[in-house]
Amino acid sequence: MAKRRQKAWAGRFKEPTNRLVEIFTASLAVDRRLYAHDIMGSVAHCKTLVRAKVLSAKDGAAIIRGLGNVKAELDKGRFRFKAQDEDIHMAIERRLTELIGPVGGKVHTGRSRNDQVALDIRLYLRDALADLARAVVSFQRTLVEQAHAHRDVVMPGYTHLQRAQPVLFAHHLLAYVEMFERDKGRLHDALARLNVMPLGSGALAGNNYPVDRHYTAQLLDFPTVTQNSLDGVSDRDFVVEVVAALSLVMMHLSRLSEELILWSSQEFQFVDLPDAFCTGSSMMPQKKNPDVPELVRGKTGRVYGHLIGLLTTLKGLPLSYNRDLQEDKEALFDALDTVTSSLEVYTAMIARLKMNRSRLRQAAEQGGMLATELADYLVLKGVPFREAHETIGRLVRFGVDNGRELTQLSLNELRSFSAHFDADALTMLTVDAAIDRKALVGGTARKRVAQGLTTWTQRLAAHAKRA
Ligand code: ARG
Repeated sequence: MAKRRQKAWAGRFKEPTNRLVEIFTASLAVDRRLYAHDIMGSVAHCKTLVRAKVLSAKDGAAIIRGLGNVKAELDKGRFRFKAQDEDIHMAIERRLTELIGPVGGKVHTGRSRNDQVALDIRLYLRDALADLARAVVSFQRTLVEQAHAHRDVVMPGYTHLQRAQPVLFAHHLLAYVEMFERDKGRLHDALARLNVMPLGSGALAGNNYPVDRHYTAQLLDFPTVTQNSLDGVSDRDFVVEVVAALSLVMMHLSRLSEELILWSSQEFQFVDLPDAFCTGSSMMPQKKNPDVPELVRGKTGRVYGHLIGLLTTLKGLPLSYNRDLQEDKEALFDALDTVTSSLEVYTAMIARLKMNRSRLRQAAEQGGMLATELADYLVLKGVPFREAHETIGRLVRFGVDNGRELTQLSLNELRSFSAHFDADALTMLTVDAAIDRKALVGGTARKRVAQGLTTWTQRLAAHAKRA
């Protein structure tokens, strides 16, 4: 067997790694995207070693310059990975040593890949979560714009997918804006807990050098450092938290997807999705399928799968680091990529949403959706709500049996069910009046929804400026 270049850890080994094991244990294809953060961490580590006089200023400068050159190669796609590069950390150190000689071997003083990778994921996630928050804000802004563009559109609101009460379509969209606001909050909370600097934990026990960990933290803009080395290298609860928050983003997107799929069906015809966001059938010429919402709904399962996968990977691990932890990154990155691309395509698609206004209004006017209004009318006349509910129930039944909507009943017919009905009962029986009567905080009245639109527009603009 041709002698392969030795591994960084080859000292205690009598024979080279089996080729299958090399392939099986490698994580490079997945973790190479950590390279910029890995180098950023190594530079800070190096400066900390110099400050502690563990490394001479001269060696430190050589290493930092070398790392800059390695980064330039990676940035430009000129970096040549080798078969023995197990992961991105090894690849970078190998190349550093090729470029600057044996002094490159000093970069790993007082460090293990265990604290190194714990740091890299945190650094990576800080950027990824900031990008994600921006993507969520863009999507929310698009929802608010569409809510504004459709502000006079009414629709049937549903419970149990049965027509329930009329609402503004804008109110429906703003419900999603609220959900995504909480999603953003959860990502932000996760960020606060993962923003802690683990370097110095070494492999598991800490290291032997008088390094100032707070200095490293300051260089990397961490507010604080991990307080227990075993914990610092071995927990990935922060990855679980992020993927849990991502799962909820997908859950919300998936619910919206389900609605768009239903609404674009022949049965509903509430919306005609833009052609550019649909695909056809290879066999049935008439088909126009809502593949984007379907795929987002489908990919939700994929992100949930990563969450359960991560929890399962972690559940039986003894302290501290175990190689099982390497499995965290594929799940995390795929969840991040899936959510990012889903938000991106949704933002573009929702920006072009055109609802079928007349069809929505027609649907809102049918199906006895004003029954609750009539019950509330009787309540205003002093009838206990339970009794009013019973009376209107019988009225609805009368309408159903005779094939007539509540709005088609005459005052005399109403009065045959309750003497409390006067002429003004008929004026209450319009969709717009029903909507505007829900004027309390959180209600669907036009005035309230208009306020909501203004508040969200300002809030999201302020967020965009901060970001
Ligand atoms: N590629 C590894 C990971 O992602 C880095 C740490 C390896 N540590 C070790 N002791 N083998 O977890």
